[in-house]
Amino acid sequence: MDQNQLKQAVAQAALDYTLAKLDSDSVLGIGTGSTANCFIDLLANHKHLFLGTVASSEDSATRLRDHGISVFELNAVSEVTIYVDGADEANAHLELIKGGGAALTREKIVTAVANEFICIADESKWVSHLGKFPLPVEVIPMARSYVARELVKLGGDPVWRENVITDNGNLILDVHHLYPIASACALEEKINQITGVVTNGLFALKPADVLFLATQDGIVKHLAGSSN
Ligand code: 5RP
Repeated sequence: MDQNQLKQAVAQAALDYTLAKLDSDSVLGIGTGSTANCFIDLLANHKHLFLGTVASSEDSATRLRDHGISVFELNAVSEVTIYVDGADEANAHLELIKGGGAALTREKIVTAVANEFICIADESKWVSHLGKFPLPVEVIPMARSYVARELVKLGGDPVWRENVITDNGNLILDVHHLYPIASACALEEKINQITGVVTNGLFALKPADVLFLATQDGIVKHLAGSSN
């Protein structure tokens, strides 16, 4: 299978898992990116089974609405049953790097609200240690240079993702050369403490609950807290 077929397969596995947990009052959290898009397209055939969705980006909200799926403001929703999203890297602790699509802040917010976070990825995202993928950091525009200098002090090599403005009106710094990240939780906290940082793309303090990984041998289900 090529990478696109793997994404389709993992989206189908997540759909089967998710549909079994939904009722007519359920609100689903929907992530951003090409794997999440596969999930959205499959979800369209089942939109009568749940109340609606909240989206982690304007792009995903548009795609959902184009399928006739309701999209709510997060502030209008008291509970998100499940959040389904992709990742740029995932390790055996289900700690992730996300934000390749610049949607990391809204992704982290929906993750915080959701009862369960299901990550979907093809095997190219599975790593022993995080950090080869440059770590995205969303920053307030006027703080860009200051935050970059602070990230250098942490040993990183930040690169401004020029021409990208996030859905929140902010900028992205991609931090290279952090590999191997020894403690993802500690680094997530440390970067978030830099004034001017909105958030960073480490999802370690609240990792995924379940990871569906598409491999050439089939879908492998990883659970948080298991030895995998
Ligand atoms: C967007 C993300 C995506 O989940 C991540 O970049 C993976 O994308 P794709 O499924 O296209 O590989 O974090 O901000």
